[in-house]
Amino acid sequence: MAKLRILVTRRWPEAVEQELAEDYDVTFNESDKPLDQSTLASAMNEYDVLCPTVSDRIDADVIAGGDRVKLLANYGVGFDHIALEAARAKGIAVTNTPGVLTDATADLTMTLLLMATRRGGEGEREVRAGQWTGWRPTHLLGSSLHGKVLGLVGFGRIAQATACRARAFGMKIAYYGRHPADSKCACDLDAHFYPDLHALLRAADMVSLHVPGGTQTRHMIDAAAIKAMREGAYLVNTARGEVVDHEALADALTGGHLAGAGLDVYPEEPKVPERLLALPNVVLLPHLGSATRETREAMGRKVIANIHAWATGQNLPDAVS
Ligand code: DGY
Repeated sequence: MAKLRILVTRRWPEAVEQELAEDYDVTFNESDKPLDQSTLASAMNEYDVLCPTVSDRIDADVIAGGDRVKLLANYGVGFDHIALEAARAKGIAVTNTPGVLTDATADLTMTLLLMATRRGGEGEREVRAGQWTGWRPTHLLGSSLHGKVLGLVGFGRIAQATACRARAFGMKIAYYGRHPADSKCACDLDAHFYPDLHALLRAADMVSLHVPGGTQTRHMIDAAAIKAMREGAYLVNTARGEVVDHEALADALTGGHLAGAGLDVYPEEPKVPERLLALPNVVLLPHLGSATRETREAMGRKVIANIHAWATGQNLPDAVS
């Protein structure tokens, strides 16, 4: 029997590319440059399975491009770049890779929180520019985490893993979500639930975003939400760029209402909002949340497990509904 044809839109770590290629007829995107919309649309007629990433836009036009693809096995947990309704209407299954990137993303959230509050980016730039004049008591003073309230917007897996880490730094935990969480991570979170977003923002010294992207959360952190944040607060975003109104954020960072921010995600990646590039008090990372070798291999193995399940008619372990 002919092997299933699979298109992998971006390069994966070698170990998982090899594992996938053992069982299927796989096309890898050798150039590793994002495929354009018309190539993705044509692929819908040429392959049985498409493995996109967050850097692809699998919109309704792409999905309308052909009838052969029956599984979109996304390499990543977020799926706001996939037109789910259009896929559903054509009977195309969609899977993602939850769980395996929780720790890496929570680690990166803490990295941003620490870099923003301890002015790590400013200090590094100063050293590299040869402008460091030596130790002095008032040099690049930041803010400590101990005793501060970390406000988590959303309280899923990554938020809870971040909360556990923040507890180890002596932070108090508060969160906003649609309901109080019924699960707890292994550490004792003692987390305070706020059913109102602005009430959480008023209560937090540092705010970290952990909601999915998409129309429902677009500009959830707008000018009014930023205004509700405490004077001198910090904002960290490892979720999706469009959750934040970056013009309003730039205003607050320039005017001093917010002390700093740490961002890993942007609305139109790889573009970074121009005004932020000029601000010293924002740490800017290039979407590194899940970027450890271990995690990226584990993500590949999740994709492979979903493809195997689909190919053998079993329940999909990570079907997106
Ligand atoms: C995801 O998985 O959605 C991340 O943004 C990329 O790892």
